[in-house]
Amino acid sequence: MTPEEFRAAGHELIDWIADYRERIPHLPVRAQVEPGEIKRALPQQPPGNVDTITDLLADLDSIVVPGVTQVQHPMHYGWFPSNASLSSVLGDIASSGMGTLGISWESCPALTEVEEVMCDWLRQLTGLSEQWRGTIHDTASTACLTAMILAREKASGISKNGGGLQSSAAPLVVYSTSQAHSSIAKAVQLAGFGNDNLRLIEEDPYTRAMLPGALSAAIREDLEIGRIPAGIVCSVGTTGTTAMDPVAEIAAIANAHGVWLHVDAAMAGSAMLLPECRHLWQGVEQADSLAWNPHKWMGTILDTTLFYVRDVNHLERVLSTNPAYLRSTADGQATQYRDWGIPLGRRFRALKLWFHLRLDGIDAIRARLRRDLSNTQWFREQVEAAEDWEVLAPVPLQTVCIRHVPKDHHKQPITGEDLDEHTLDWVGRINASGRAFMSPSVLDGRWMVRVSIGVEGTTREHVARLWELLQESVTSRIG
Ligand SMILES: Cc1ncc(COP(=O)(O)O)c(C=O)c1O
Repeated sequence: MTPEEFRAAGHELIDWIADYRERIPHLPVRAQVEPGEIKRALPQQPPGNVDTITDLLADLDSIVVPGVTQVQHPMHYGWFPSNASLSSVLGDIASSGMGTLGISWESCPALTEVEEVMCDWLRQLTGLSEQWRGTIHDTASTACLTAMILAREKASGISKNGGGLQSSAAPLVVYSTSQAHSSIAKAVQLAGFGNDNLRLIEEDPYTRAMLPGALSAAIREDLEIGRIPAGIVCSVGTTGTTAMDPVAEIAAIANAHGVWLHVDAAMAGSAMLLPECRHLWQGVEQADSLAWNPHKWMGTILDTTLFYVRDVNHLERVLSTNPAYLRSTADGQATQYRDWGIPLGRRFRALKLWFHLRLDGIDAIRARLRRDLSNTQWFREQVEAAEDWEVLAPVPLQTVCIRHVPKDHHKQPITGEDLDEHTLDWVGRINASGRAFMSPSVLDGRWMVRVSIGVEGTTREHVARLWELLQESVTSRIG
């Protein structure tokens, strides 16, 4: 494809994207396809001929769009906001269009230096001090894996340069809670600690936040029996209920024992753009690493995870490589991001943040976050005031965990499996209808429904419509 052909096809594609985004509110929220349906609609053999962009876009409409769950739909309340602001989409296109290669500073100085500045802008915008230096990872999962590798190497005296964990008889232990995201356990497993050495610390039964006293006791117990406390993962906003582990108290314990503390603020990090929310991660300055996803609520399109550390020397000691073919005269003067993470080749992801911040502006982003916080409190109030409805956990940000608990013919609230069946029935009917989408999840062994508010297009009217839909659904008028 020549640049001229690209220009023509690109115009068609941009028009298609703009039309598609306008159409989203009229599409069903959940993909209305069965497993295997999309595969069957595609030719089973690779094409032998060449198509036009017009033909391709027609197939995008007829084959692909029905297989998309519309997370940009204003009635999407599932999982978490996965906003993809169009300004950041332009940054993504610019990044791909430039076709850069990030394997060293020399291979694209701009890639490195725009990333350094973007991480620093976001540091300032979230109120972090200058001791933090950041990089962009694909996801919070990769950031957590990196943090666990840093924790392992700190606790094992850089064992990777010798026999690795296999050279140590004493197990290294990581602490978190049962509410932590599944990517934490995965990172602990993949970093070589083993699941048996992930200790889940007791939580407060209502807030589901880690109990610092229980953490202290667990560390003491491990030290007494010769195990080595190596890492703590503290959640600022768990996925299930947005539980906030008390960072300051946990950091004091981590520092007293020299244990690496990673703060996972994947979802809630966006809220730290608002000064009034920063008390939720008070103490974060004493952590060793932290990660959050602008590609969630803030709305810089995937994949844009910010990963910050305080000790860059340790980071580079653990992750650097220095093959001869990548050496240059810039060594020692410039940041080599390949030494800050796992991949060698990196995309120019910082352009997504640059475009997002320059074209939408931080004021608009902050106003949207505040709108969502207000809509969420409005929704919580409606649920709390309604008969037979329950809000199951504190609502510090934008997720409300709810249950509808009807009464049986003896006028007693239904419980146990009957309650589970009822919950899965009403939410299942709404999700299948395509009119809204929410994620059922389990809390204290029973099904509940998470209502996650924060799609860019979701206004108070949409939230009010959802509340109507919920009330109709429990009287079986949906589906
Ligand atoms: C608290 C928390 N941590 C980690 C993750 C994983 O994020 P990612 O998809 O960027 O790996 C999520 C995703 O929902 C999350 O909510």
